[in-house]
Amino acid sequence: MRRPTRLNHPSAVATTLLLVFVLLPAFHAAENITYSFTSFNTSVESKFAHLGDANIYQEVLQLTPDSRNVDAFLVNKSGRILLREHIKLWDWQQTNNTMRVASFNTAFTINVSPESHLAAGEGLTFLIAPSLDDPPPGSHGPYLGLTNASLNGNNSNHFVAIEFDTAKQSFDRDNNHVGLDINGVDSNITASLTPLGIDIAPVNGTNHTVWIDYDGVHRHVWVYMAIEGSEKPVASVLNASIDISVYVQQRSYLGFSASTGSDFELNCVIAWNLTVEKLPDDGGGLSIGAIIGVAVGVGCVLVVMTLTTGILVVFCRRKRAAGNERDMLRKKLNGLPGTPREFEYKELKVATGNFDERRKLGQGAFGEVYKGVLPGSSMEVAVKRFSRDKTRGQDDFLAELTIINCLRHRNLVPLLGWCHENGVLLLVYEFMPNGSLDQHLYGDGGLVWWRRYNIVAGVASALHYIHHEYNQMVVHRDLKPSNIMLDATFDARLGDFGLARALDTDKTSFTELGVVGTRGYIANECCITHKFTRESDVYAFGTVVLEVVCGRRPLYDVSGFHLLVDWVWKLHREGRLLEAVDPRLGGEYPAEDAERLLLLGLACSQPHLRARPKAQAIVQIVSRSAPPPAVPKFKPAFVWPPPQGPLFEGNHDDHNWTSGTTLTSSTATSSNGGDSSAGDVGTTRALSLYVETGDSEKISRA
Ligand SMILES: *[C@@H]1O[C@H](CO)[C@@H](O)[C@H](O)[C@H]1NC(C)=O
Ligand SMILES: *[C@@H]1O[C@H](CO)[C@@H](O)[C@H](O)[C@H]1NC(C)=O
Ligand SMILES: *[C@@H]1O[C@H](CO)[C@@H](O)[C@H](O)[C@H]1NC(C)=O
Ligand SMILES: *[C@@H]1O[C@H](CO)[C@@H](O)[C@H](O)[C@H]1NC(C)=O
Ligand SMILES: *[C@@H]1O[C@H](CO)[C@@H](O)[C@H](O)[C@H]1NC(C)=O
Ligand SMILES: *[C@@H]1O[C@H](CO)[C@@H](O)[C@H](O)[C@H]1NC(C)=O
Ligand SMILES: *[C@@H]1O[C@H](CO)[C@@H](O)[C@H](O)[C@H]1NC(C)=O
Ligand SMILES: *[C@@H]1O[C@H](CO)[C@@H](O)[C@H](O)[C@H]1NC(C)=O
Ligand SMILES: *[C@@H]1O[C@H](CO)[C@@H](O)[C@H](O)[C@H]1NC(C)=O
Ligand SMILES: *[C@@H]1O[C@H](CO)[C@@H](O)[C@H](O)[C@H]1NC(C)=O
Ligand SMILES: *[C@@H]1O[C@H](CO)[C@@H](O)[C@H](O)[C@H]1NC(C)=O
Repeated sequence: MRRPTRLNHPSAVATTLLLVFVLLPAFHAAENITYSFTSFNTSVESKFAHLGDANIYQEVLQLTPDSRNVDAFLVNKSGRILLREHIKLWDWQQTNNTMRVASFNTAFTINVSPESHLAAGEGLTFLIAPSLDDPPPGSHGPYLGLTNASLNGNNSNHFVAIEFDTAKQSFDRDNNHVGLDINGVDSNITASLTPLGIDIAPVNGTNHTVWIDYDGVHRHVWVYMAIEGSEKPVASVLNASIDISVYVQQRSYLGFSASTGSDFELNCVIAWNLTVEKLPDDGGGLSIGAIIGVAVGVGCVLVVMTLTTGILVVFCRRKRAAGNERDMLRKKLNGLPGTPREFEYKELKVATGNFDERRKLGQGAFGEVYKGVLPGSSMEVAVKRFSRDKTRGQDDFLAELTIINCLRHRNLVPLLGWCHENGVLLLVYEFMPNGSLDQHLYGDGGLVWWRRYNIVAGVASALHYIHHEYNQMVVHRDLKPSNIMLDATFDARLGDFGLARALDTDKTSFTELGVVGTRGYIANECCITHKFTRESDVYAFGTVVLEVVCGRRPLYDVSGFHLLVDWVWKLHREGRLLEAVDPRLGGEYPAEDAERLLLLGLACSQPHLRARPKAQAIVQIVSRSAPPPAVPKFKPAFVWPPPQGPLFEGNHDDHNWTSGTTLTSSTATSSNGGDSSAGDVGTTRALSLYVETGDSEKISRA
C-alpha cells in the first residue's frame, strides 16, 4: 500500500503555478485549521449537517434521538453529524512525488447512556466520511450509522472511523471496546476498555473525553480516553498504523455517527475540539479541488472520456484543401458538452513549463509525456506530445477523436482534450495520482489482495464497455499493467488507448505500421493476421490477471518454462494452482477467489481465440455471479487457422472476427519508458512467429 516514489506514467502534473504551491508549504507548514465547540448552540448549528436520525438538540449533538418515553422511537436509529466544510486530508507533492498526509488532533466529550435497567446499544464513532450524504438505509444496529449489510466492507465506502462499541456482534470481542473501522464495521483492530476500567456506556451517565491524534508523517493513530475532566492519559487505549490517504477522499468530512438497535442508548457529543494541519490549497480554490475530487472519486461516472496515449498519428502537411472538413470536425468536437476540448498550444506550453525535461514522465515510441498543471485552474494533467510526423493526416485523427470522445466509463482514463498546432499533436489526460499498476505490483510489498481483485474487476468492466457496451466496437490493443492506471482510490482506469481508428476492411490498417503491442501480451494469432481483435484483448487481459495474482511478469523463466502462463498451467494440471499466488501476500487471500482468477487467467490465455471467454462472461466470473471457467488440464497447441467446430467452454456467438467495422486503438509503446523485461515489440514489422508445442514455446523468425 505504499505510494510509488516515482511517478512514471502518462498522467501527471505540474506547472509553474504548481511550483508556487509546492513551495508554499515551507511557509505555511505550521498553519492549522481549528474548530472549538464548548457547546453546540444555535450560533454554531449552521456549521453542521445533521443526517439521518441525528439532531442538534439542547446544545449537544444527538446522533440518535433523545425521547425517552417511547422505546419504539429509540430503537433502530442511525445518524451522522458532520462539519459542513470539507477538509483536505492528503496531497500529492509535485516536487518529489510523495504523498503528504495531514496530521490532526481532536478531543471530544461524549455521553453514551443506556436506560438504567437495559443493555446499551449500539455505539458511536468519530468519522471521516466521503460526503454529506445520509447514512445508508439499514445502517442501524451493528452498522453504527457507517454502512449497511450490503455495503459493509466495500472499498468504495471511503470512510475511516474510530468506533466506541457498546454491543457485542458475532465479530466483536465484547460489548465495551474501541476499534479502527476501515470501510466496514468489522474493525481492523480493536481494544477492550474493560481491563482499563473504562465503561463507554456507564449506567450512571458519566461523560468521557476522547482524544484522537493522527500523525500524517508516520501514518499512525493514537486514541486516548478518560472520564470527563481528567487529564489526557499517558497511555493510549488503541494505536494503529494507517495511511488514511489510501482510503478516504482527498477532501473529506469530519464528524460523528452512531446507531441504536433493539438495544438503545443516548449517543451525544457534548464538546469538540479539532485541529487539522492545513495542506496547501490547490490555488484555484474549492471548485478545482471539488472537481478533482469528483473526478477521481466514485462520481466519475459523470466524468468523461477515454484516454489514450500511444498513438500512431501522423500529420502530413499536405494541402489545405481539407481545411473545411477539418473545421467542421473541430466544430463537432468542440460542440459536445462535457467532452474533451481543444487546447491552445500556448496554454499547454505554460502548463508543462515549456515541455521541461524535468517534468518528463516517460518516453514512448511515439512521443513523450509531461506533467502539467493547467494555468488558471490548477487542474493536474498529463500531456502527451507526439513526435512522429508521418503518413496520416490530421483529418483522420480528428475523425477518430470524435469516436474516442464518446467513450465514457469509470474505468477509463479521462481524455481532457487535444491540441494540434504547427504540426505538433498533443493529448491531454486527467492526472492519475497513483500511477500505473506495474509500479505497485512490483514495488516493495505489492498490493493487498482485495485491491488486486478490485483492479481486475475494474479492467474487466472497462473491457466489457469498449467491446460490447459502446455502439462501435473498440479494441484496446495494448493491455498491460503499465497501461492500467490507478486513480486516487486505487480503482483501475484503462489508459493508453492510443489512437482509435476505424478499421474498415478495405482500408489498410495498422498492418502498415506493423503489430504494435508488447511481447507476452500478444496473442499468437496476431502475429499471423496482424490484426487485433476483441479476442486478442482478452488474451492480454488473461496475461494481466495472471500477473496480478502471481505478482510475476509474463515472461517468467522457471523450471523450464519461459512464460508465466505455462508454469501456471502446469500447476493447474498438478492440482497445485494456489502455489502460483504471489508469495508476498503471505497467504492473506481467499483461496476461492484466487483460484477463480487463476482459472480465468488461463481460460483467457487459450491459444484458440474462440475458446477464450468474452468480456460479458469475464465480468460475470469476476463478480462471482458465474462459476469459474473450466480449463483443460493441458494447454491446447496453437493451430492456425483456428479449428472450426465446438471448442470446450468458449461461447462462440455472433462474433466474426475478421469482418465488420472494428474500431481499434493503436498504441505506442508504454509511455512510462517501457519496461524492458516485457520487451516492447514496438512497431517492428519483422515479427516473431510463436509456434507452440504444448507447454513450451519456440520462437522462430517469420
Ligand atoms: C498546529 O497543530 C499542531 C498539533 O496540534 C501544533 O503542534 C502546532 O503548533 C499548530 N500550529 C499552529 C500554527 O498553531
Ligand atoms: C455558542 O457555542 C460556541 C461554540 O461552542 C461558543 O464559542 C459560544 O460561546 C456559545 N455561545 C453561547 C451564548 O453559549
Ligand atoms: C430493528 O431492526 C432489526 C434488524 O434490522 C429487526 O429485526 C427489528 O424488528 C427492528 N425493530 C423494530 C422495532 O423495528
Ligand atoms: C517533499 O517535498 C516537500 C516540499 O515540496 C517537503 O516538505 C517534503 O519534506 C519532501 N518529502 C520528502 C520525502 O523528501
Ligand atoms: C477544547 O479546548 C478548550 C480550550 O483549549 C478547552 O477548554 C476544552 O476543554 C477543550 N475541550 C475538549 C473536549 O477537549
Ligand atoms: C444499503 O445502502 C444502499 C444505498 O446506499 C442501498 O441501495 C441498499 O439497499 C442498502 N442495503 C440494505 C441491506 O439496506
Ligand atoms: C461496492 O459498492 C459499489 C457502489 O455502491 C458497487 O458497484 C459494487 O458492486 C460494490 N462491491 C461489492 C464487492 O459489493
Ligand atoms: C482491514 O482493512 C482492510 C482494508 O485495509 C479490509 O479490507 C480488511 O477487511 C480489514 N480486516 C479486517 C480483519 O477487518
Ligand atoms: C460512574 O461509573 C464509572 C464506571 O462505570 C465510574 O468510574 C465513575 O466513577 C462513576 N461516576 C459516578 C459519579 O459515580
Ligand atoms: C455530562 O455532560 C452534560 C453536559 O455538559 C452534563 O449536563 C451532565 O451532567 C454530565 N453528566 C455527568 C454524569 O457528569
Ligand atoms: C500501541 O499498541 C500496542 C499494542 O497494540 C502497545 O504495545 C504499544 O505500547 C502502543 N504504543 C503506544 C505508543 O501507545
